[in-house]
Amino acid sequence: MKILIIGGGNMGTTYARSFLRSHITDKDRMMILERLPEKAEALRRLDLGAVYTDAEACLPGADLIILAVKPQDAPALFARIRGIVDAQQVFLSIMAGVRIRTIAEGLGVQKIIRAMPNLPAQIGQGMTVFTSSDQVTRIELVTVQNLLNTTGKTLYVENEDFLDAATAVSGSGPAYVWFFMQAMYEAAREMGFSVPEAELLVYQTFRGAVDLYNKADLSFEQWIRRVASKGGTTEAALHTYEGTTLSEHIKEGLRAALQRAIELGRQE
Ligand SMILES: NC(=O)c1ccc[n+]([C@@H]2O[C@H](COP(=O)([O-])OP(=O)(O)OC[C@H]3O[C@@H](n4cnc5c(N)ncnc54)[C@H](OP(=O)(O)O)[C@@H]3O)[C@@H](O)[C@H]2O)c1
Repeated sequence: MKILIIGGGNMGTTYARSFLRSHITDKDRMMILERLPEKAEALRRLDLGAVYTDAEACLPGADLIILAVKPQDAPALFARIRGIVDAQQVFLSIMAGVRIRTIAEGLGVQKIIRAMPNLPAQIGQGMTVFTSSDQVTRIELVTVQNLLNTTGKTLYVENEDFLDAATAVSGSGPAYVWFFMQAMYEAAREMGFSVPEAELLVYQTFRGAVDLYNKADLSFEQWIRRVASKGGTTEAALHTYEGTTLSEHIKEGLRAALQRAIELGRQE
């Protein structure tokens, strides 16, 4: 299977690297299409496969085409390649907010998979939620899922609306985690720890908590109860959080992200 990635930016190169690193494909079957010659030249130096700036030279030979340009560049891209795509080709779009119907109408194709990855895909620790049009066969879907699995975990959803919800939870999610880490870091600094000490304390606490959570079949609430003994320090902190409705604010943030994802999808 020949793969063409359109847009060799952050996500495009992340995908190319992941596919090659996992040996699910090789450089002879990997192509990247970029817009500007200078960028194409820089990409060639990364040695991730053949790099093109001319769609006619690469698109007709591709079985799977990954759309990894910014959502705002999609209309121009669709207009540019509409005449050279064919109905048997499978399209995997990772463009945030661009709906399957928009891609189908823009390109005149029907085999479309839409995925929402997140940034830790860069280190093989991503979370990708994906869905597909009815015309994608089971084999094509499994093939694409295997490719996505090289960047972390994946979850298939039947209903495309869940991609907006996934954008709010896992797509934007790493930023919420870093926001909480930043607040803890600032508190640690106020308590007198140096910058590297505060960073270490916060980073290792998050890492340890996540790894521990993975080791046993306990819910988040059960783990909290394990740390928070009666009358202890953790309980004192948790009481304060409950008093300030922190949990409600976090949920409110996710709801705002969902609303924005829906709005962006409607703006096309
Ligand atoms: N970054 C994330 O964490 C993340 C997470 C989930 C989803 N996504 C989605 O992933 C997509 C890519 O994001 P990114 O961060 O990788 O963006 P990026 O770094 O800007 O990469 C996009 C690349 O596509 C190129 N491009 C634009 N139009 C093109 C065309 N017609 N033909 C060929 N190449 C073209 C751009 O070139 P120029 O610079 O010359 O415009 C740029 O190199 C976006 O749609 C985003 O919504 C990203």
